[in-house]
Amino acid sequence: MKFLKLALVLFVFQTQAQQGGMWIPSLLKGMNETEMKSLGMKISAKDIYDANQSSLKDAVPQFDGGCTAEVISDKGLILTNHHCGFDAIQNHSTVEHDYLRDGFWAYKMEDELTNPNMTVMFVVRIEDVTTKVMEGITTLATEAEKQKKIQDNISSLSNSLPKESWQENKIRTFYDGNQYLLFVTETFKDIRFVGAPPSSIGKFGSDTDNWVWPRHTGDFSLFRIYADKNNHPAAYSADNVPYKPKKFFPISTSGVKENDFTMVMGYPGRTQEYLPSVAVNQIVETLNPAKIEVRDAALKVQDRFMRKDQAIKIQYASKYAGVANYWKKWMGETKGLKKANAVAAKQKFEKQFQEKVIQVGKQAEYGNLLSDFEKNYAEIKDYALARDYFTEVALRNTEILSVGYKLYQLEQLLASKGEQSFNDRKNTLSKGIDDFYKDYNAEVDKNVFEQLIQLYAAKSPKQFLPESLLNVDASQLTNAIFSNSKLTSLNAFRELLEGDSKTVIEKINNDNGYQLIKAMANAYTSKVAPTYDALNLKNIATQRTYMKAILELFPNQRNFPDANSTLRVTYGKVKGYEPNDAVYYEPFTTLDGVMEKYIPGDYEFDVPKKLIELYQTKDYGTYGVNGKMPVCFIATNHTTGGNSGSPALDANGNLIGLNFDRVWEGTMSDIFYSPDICRNIMVDARFVLFIIDKFAGAQNIINELKLVQTTKKK
Ligand code: ARG
Ligand code: ASP
Repeated sequence: MKFLKLALVLFVFQTQAQQGGMWIPSLLKGMNETEMKSLGMKISAKDIYDANQSSLKDAVPQFDGGCTAEVISDKGLILTNHHCGFDAIQNHSTVEHDYLRDGFWAYKMEDELTNPNMTVMFVVRIEDVTTKVMEGITTLATEAEKQKKIQDNISSLSNSLPKESWQENKIRTFYDGNQYLLFVTETFKDIRFVGAPPSSIGKFGSDTDNWVWPRHTGDFSLFRIYADKNNHPAAYSADNVPYKPKKFFPISTSGVKENDFTMVMGYPGRTQEYLPSVAVNQIVETLNPAKIEVRDAALKVQDRFMRKDQAIKIQYASKYAGVANYWKKWMGETKGLKKANAVAAKQKFEKQFQEKVIQVGKQAEYGNLLSDFEKNYAEIKDYALARDYFTEVALRNTEILSVGYKLYQLEQLLASKGEQSFNDRKNTLSKGIDDFYKDYNAEVDKNVFEQLIQLYAAKSPKQFLPESLLNVDASQLTNAIFSNSKLTSLNAFRELLEGDSKTVIEKINNDNGYQLIKAMANAYTSKVAPTYDALNLKNIATQRTYMKAILELFPNQRNFPDANSTLRVTYGKVKGYEPNDAVYYEPFTTLDGVMEKYIPGDYEFDVPKKLIELYQTKDYGTYGVNGKMPVCFIATNHTTGGNSGSPALDANGNLIGLNFDRVWEGTMSDIFYSPDICRNIMVDARFVLFIIDKFAGAQNIINELKLVQTTKKK
């Protein structure tokens, strides 16, 4: 009987092996390793992270601060997304050599291109330093004093804890300040561009397909890490040599099947999985809709101009993509949170939480957390909304206001730091502003301005608006500003900055564009920011205690720490999903789908001639499967922004693809992950190999790689 019961428990565990979560690589032993094995993993936790021997983590660096990459050869070759290398590719492009349009391949190492300021960071080891960071705080009376002491401890520990001279110590907080981990890292600074497909492969589908499955994008690019002769990080030098990694990934040419185990390692940026229901409700009902409405208006104007003018199209392409990315994400997120009844699910948990608090007699410590949240979030609502409107309208989407805000900061600097700082900032500003105006079109901005000021005056909480925007006539204001303000052109802007501080301050304060942003910024800093900051600090403190309580009262729940741009492991299964009643999405796409989407000459869906030829002749080499060329696939790995470029690995730790996006119906996973609907999107490694080999003919790159076949070809 006992045996039967155990077998039953095991059986349930096997079939329901849980998914979701972004776990700390040094702490996988135990629950995670068991789950991973039950999902089909063949390697061990020690193979993934080992402080003393080479392990998978040694092949997964953070790429240029915001993305992830993986090492794929013993000569420091790394693979990341096309959209992660995008700026570098753009920087190397000219009208004669347009690598964004045509792609780029270094057929020998001498042809690789240098990238000033690009960095690639490896994690050498991870240690728990919570006790050390928390030292001396229990005796302190106030929250502010405690936080100050923690910061002081962190900076002195970062200096004193052992590391090699070429390494860095970084201490990061986990579980909202309940755990602190030290990351000893190595940051390489000589990173060279090796190859990228044309955008019609690397960005195929562009904004229309962004956040969407089924997907057909070959979102990859290649770089190489160079080191000094000791294999240590060094600034660019012609004498540097290809980095010899401690570990690199073999690439599997066998792919995966539905339900196979997969895992993704990388540097997810930010998630908020433990927000209370009131906070989620505020995001769904108030904050996301406001941000979406602002961006929607700005994007519509830009799109209208971009469609009829090629020069504007080029000027605004990258800005548009940046704004559109999160505009679209927030829409998917809002929809998903509603459909999954995230608020109700959180409320249900909160009921259990409250019962548990009473059950263990912790009312004094934890009994008021939920009511505190309720009170705080109600109080902060208007301030948070005003903050989002100010950020989205003034700082993010109206260019004349965002450039005016730089002058506002300049004026503030004079008041706070004096003449010298003022002049330094003024000079950098005057020099650096070319880049801004190169891609600025006053006509586009004027139309955006009119829309957004109208929205701001109508929708941002009235009590915080500057006087000049109460009962404003938006079209009149727009005309007045765009026919007078010096913020609308490079030369006029430079002129504003000529002269000593007194002259400059006088000139800018006479400019009606500046007057507006100054009034908006003053209203924001005096009426919104102080209260917002104070309430937000309260929420942070409450969240810390709530997190502590969850860890303490629900120790058997799968409590993973929210993302914080540190190295994580997530795992799951290759799986299709049902986005809507009666609709099922298969987990794999092929080149056939690229051809189905093909629109000759279209800026999103054009296909390179060479690729069409390869498709017609079915010249897929060893990378095709039964006459089809795999392109992308999805799985239940829990990922977020920052996971782009992350290696997707099979049960043996071989590379099977690279992560680059999530599916529309599951973008809510930053707040509420559901294994039913949340999927990450990856490019199939075989498509990457096919493009390098058959499309680019870069045999030199293929020869560097270690290809493995784990199953017999049919
Ligand atoms: N949605 C993906 C991510 O958040 C890809 C973004 C790049 N692609 C684009 N069309 N904007 O980064
Ligand atoms: N596209 C994202 C990135 O660039 C990944 C995601 O949000 O799923 O990191």
